[in-house]
Amino acid sequence: MTRNIAPDSGPVIELGPGTGVITYKLLEKGFRQQDLTLVESGADFARLLQIRFPGARVLWMDAARLRTADLADDGSVGSVLSGLPLLTMSPKNVMSILKAAFRYMRPTGGFYQLTYCPVVPIAKPILDRLGLTATLVGRTMRNLPPAALYRLARQPPPRASAQAELDDVRTAGSVHRNRNDGLVDR
Ligand SMILES: C[S@@+](CC[C@H](N)C(=O)[O-])C[C@H]1O[C@@H](n2cnc3c(N)ncnc32)[C@H](O)[C@@H]1O
Repeated sequence: MTRNIAPDSGPVIELGPGTGVITYKLLEKGFRQQDLTLVESGADFARLLQIRFPGARVLWMDAARLRTADLADDGSVGSVLSGLPLLTMSPKNVMSILKAAFRYMRPTGGFYQLTYCPVVPIAKPILDRLGLTATLVGRTMRNLPPAALYRLARQPPPRASAQAELDDVRTAGSVHRNRNDGLVDR
């Protein structure tokens, strides 16, 4: 879960850190506790996290309140790591968590979702509505049940793909012209 991120990719928000297994991995990778925000709804877990990671910001709250909690400046967070049971949550709460997470994150930021489900644990209409793509970045059979990790990211803006198409058309046009001029394929 932490393989794809590095301390220089920016502060991290962890959703549903539980006992802090992933949090320890972040520290091993060189993240500083003060760059970690841990959002946990279980009271006992939250207390344990406070003891284990005294320098991190531990918030005992429902991740569905991510936006109203005003955790960070928009565009300032590098990554969000989530072990949340999204499949058991209402579509409204899933939408609000993802919306808030992507507002906090830098444009290139990734939302990493751990799941025991064999497919993406977020309904396609929700991904489409928020303009997100989901990519499988890892899977392990050593976990019981087997676990998978998906990276959610913003889709490239339509203007970028329109520009790429335009560039392709221009390139094709110039090759065509060059062929007619007899300047290529000799
Ligand atoms: C499957 S555990 C993941 C634990 C940890 N990431 C790990 O890999 O060991 C899910 C965690 O999400 C927390 N959780 C569930 N619903 C939540 C919510 N709405 N907001 C915040 N935390 C939640 C649970 O209390 C639990 O700690």
